Amino acid sequence: MRAMTTMTGKSLRILGSAVFMIAALLPAAGIEGSEPLPIPPILEFESLRGGTKLFYLEADEGQREFIPGKSTRTLGYNGDYLGPTIRVRRGDDVIVRVKNSLRNPTTVHWHGADVPADSDGGPHQGIAPGETWDADFRVRQQAATLWYHPHFVETTGEQVYKGLAGLLIIDDENSGGLGLPMDYGVDDVPVILQERKFDRNGRFTYRPSMSDQMHGYFGNEILVNGAISPHKDVPRGPVRLRILNGSNSTLLRITFDGLSEFHQVASDGGFLERPVTLTYLVLSPGERAEVIADFSRTTGSSVVMKAETNGQQIYDAVEFRPAGIRQSAWEPPESLVTVEDIPESEASKTRRFAMQSGMGARMTINGKVMDMDRIDERLRLGDTEIWEIVNRDGMGGGMMGGMMNQPHSFHVHAVQFRILDINGRPPPAQLAGWKDTVLLWPGDRVRIIARYDSYKGLYMYHCHLLEHEDNGMMGQFLIE
Ligand code: C2O
Ligand code: CU
Ligand code: CU
Repeated sequence: MRAMTTMTGKSLRILGSAVFMIAALLPAAGIEGSEPLPIPPILEFESLRGGTKLFYLEADEGQREFIPGKSTRTLGYNGDYLGPTIRVRRGDDVIVRVKNSLRNPTTVHWHGADVPADSDGGPHQGIAPGETWDADFRVRQQAATLWYHPHFVETTGEQVYKGLAGLLIIDDENSGGLGLPMDYGVDDVPVILQERKFDRNGRFTYRPSMSDQMHGYFGNEILVNGAISPHKDVPRGPVRLRILNGSNSTLLRITFDGLSEFHQVASDGGFLERPVTLTYLVLSPGERAEVIADFSRTTGSSVVMKAETNGQQIYDAVEFRPAGIRQSAWEPPESLVTVEDIPESEASKTRRFAMQSGMGARMTINGKVMDMDRIDERLRLGDTEIWEIVNRDGMGGGMMGGMMNQPHSFHVHAVQFRILDINGRPPPAQLAGWKDTVLLWPGDRVRIIARYDSYKGLYMYHCHLLEHEDNGMMGQFLIE
């Protein structure tokens, strides 16, 4: 039995709790030697008549030596593992032509993106082996760090785990003028964190047990852009990190050994109103944060990004090696953007979603497991709605609920939402901007508000712990 079954979400909340002390005694997970942090290349595009940007992605099998001399089978987009960064601007017309060279069906979903339902890449847009599919959309949202990944029925966890994921970065007319670092790969660095379970042969396979399906598939190493404990040379000044928790079900608590604080400037759907100074950051799977780490403030030769999991692991994720002339300390700008409030009074409806573990490994929302042929919620285009989500695992009610102490998250396609409150209290500043995924600790009740005003069509909401999603914790809403 894995130790994490005894973990409660609350442990991760408490700084310096006993759980963390135990974890610190575990043998270090690092591997000798250190390679430079791989930077996913920016994907080139073809310009079509009318200015549409055409990108090509190919999902294929590969293999990779994450540990020198030991090779493991992987999946990747345009390569062995992970995919290139797709970078577009607000106003762009975009086609992404996806070729499926896998042996199984797949899809490509644009997580966090405001796109038409038939380009969303959800479970209904399956691409058969050997087939090609076009996602076709206009970029209408503000600057943000989004990501893309497969979303096929019941195989999302496996395909993401084996390596299918990449970043989708949106720029806009505002994002270049904020004084934030923006030299990609130099002082504007993607950081895709993924916990993986390597066996002694240096392979990782995806074979979740019943318990893994209930609690999530955890691991014993963390990959950062596909590398184990890499290092990154950085200027001795402010560096922007675009952090994605790309793990299947692992919650991560991120700190910097050598920097007492850092500044979060963006959440899932774009910039915060103003930078928020933090000492640690918690990201559940699928969530992103852009942070500024100011390496002018360290005197040492390195700063280590630590990633601590709810499975009682502490990883040295990346070692940053500041070099060059010490720049003056970074002054966080007073304000970044205006995040427009959605007044509660504008909501025409409140819907309720109860997340709960069911019998066996089945995972439910409102007592139901995902059914492709069932539409769970019907909305009207243009409506504003409040969704109230509750994590019943850990509330002491229900058949399994009381015993589970199981965190969940809630992700909604098609929109970016605002969190109104968490257990009746307004969200902390770093969760007060645009979000598409929200973590719910056992027993939590969260209210979110969004405008469903972009496109008609069928979209998904689900737990973004991928083992839960694959085991039914997903529903469908139709905007009509
Ligand atoms: Cu990142 Cu429906 O997914
Ligand atoms: Cu999504
Ligand atoms: Cu869940």
